[in-house]
Amino acid sequence: MTANTADQNSSTTLPALQQALHAVRAGNMRTAEECLTAFIARKFDLDIQDGDLNIRQDTISLNSVNGLFTTANGQKFFFKFHLEEDEGDTVAEYYRAGLLDKAGYPVEQPCYVSTTVGEQILIYPYVAHTRLFDACKNNEQANSDTANAIITAQQQLDRLCADKAQETMTIGTQQDYEAEPLLQLFYWRLVDTTPNGDRTGGRHKQFYIGKTFAFPHDVTLSYADLSALTWNINGIDYDITLDQAFANARATLAPNAIDTYPACTAHGDAHNGNVWLREQSGSTYDLAYFDPAFAGEKIPVLLAEIKTTFHNILAHPEWLYDAKEADNKLDVRADVKDGKLYVRHSWDLPPLRRAFLDSKIENFWKPVLAQLAADNTLPENWEAFIRAALFCCPALVMNLRAGEGTAQNTHTQKTSLLGLSIAIMCATRASNGDDIITDFINRIQP
Ligand SMILES: Nc1ncnc2c1ncn2[C@@H]1O[C@H](COP(=O)(O)OP(=O)(O)O)[C@@H](O)[C@H]1O
Ligand SMILES: [Mg+2]
Repeated sequence: MTANTADQNSSTTLPALQQALHAVRAGNMRTAEECLTAFIARKFDLDIQDGDLNIRQDTISLNSVNGLFTTANGQKFFFKFHLEEDEGDTVAEYYRAGLLDKAGYPVEQPCYVSTTVGEQILIYPYVAHTRLFDACKNNEQANSDTANAIITAQQQLDRLCADKAQETMTIGTQQDYEAEPLLQLFYWRLVDTTPNGDRTGGRHKQFYIGKTFAFPHDVTLSYADLSALTWNINGIDYDITLDQAFANARATLAPNAIDTYPACTAHGDAHNGNVWLREQSGSTYDLAYFDPAFAGEKIPVLLAEIKTTFHNILAHPEWLYDAKEADNKLDVRADVKDGKLYVRHSWDLPPLRRAFLDSKIENFWKPVLAQLAADNTLPENWEAFIRAALFCCPALVMNLRAGEGTAQNTHTQKTSLLGLSIAIMCATRASNGDDIITDFINRIQP
């Protein structure tokens, strides 16, 4: 790692980051910016003038404060630090960027780092590229030159990920599995705190249990009623209830269900909002990761590309991220009869996402699963594991109930029902027909 690391035992007594945090929380951005300017300038011996540092007000999350600053000689930087006493995250991100870099993944590295307790902050060189998320949104129809160049870049990254997974492949233990930060996006969203395979909790409880669901055509169901229904989606039957889908995911992803497993080094959370589309010469692109908060060296191989498979492909066009926009173009109907929820929807993958799915299958999943099969390390329940993990993506990344979602995106009755239908399709094979997820599983089967 080449970052300038400020020493671990600085004698500084001023809790400058704490002051900045208090100011951010109180909504005093100007004070926070002055505080950060003085802190960063002193800490890293940089010449930053008042007014040259700005906190990104549009994305202040519960987890991190970030923004941009410019030094007197015109150099631009991005800074980032995490909130709360649990300061591990900032240093962990630094460490994880390093381990991805070491494995040969393209990932942004911080250029200044402070690991001092109470003063943990990362400074990255400013990046002016477009996020892949934004570029894809503007190129859903895969027939423009730009869309084709994006697909080529994605194919290259998928091939690289397969190579890196194979190069770093190892066998993990139950302890390794339980300790992987990436599980925070899967298993730990399903349960309260203990690694007990059937303890209902986490976001499952917080988002859904005891709540009411409003679907199109005045279908309103309590969680108790909804979660007891089986599903018929676009004419085919899924003999599973929402409650069973959650229970399967809890049981399948639980640490106590894993003895040993094939593991590798991976980013794990490389949704397109954490990927830069870097313009190269001659209208070509390559992709680079940033924000490797959940990267690890013992990520289950079967989990490494679940987030990318779901969020960069199946979550589109827009229904997960911009429900209002998707709602206008979608037809989604609900009907309850004889213990079954009948859904009709018009959702389909746009051409760009189909091309991404093909690439993910051909360039990542097929070679990697074939390798596991050849090594005799492919878990017997690989399909159930992949399905359980895919199910968690729509079900638990944000609240899927109509009127809920995130601060930027509120689900509608249509996107709510569509999201749950897609989650059910992830959870199990239909009993009398194939859908896009089953086609995916059939194609990657070694
Ligand atoms: N090096 C950088 N230069 C300029 N902008 C950046 C840089 N890194 C991240 N950003 C912007 O800041 C946003 C948040 O950064 P990210 O590291 O993803 O933090 P978070 O943990 O909040 O997701 C990104 O979506 C991107 O738009
Ligand atoms: Mg991010």
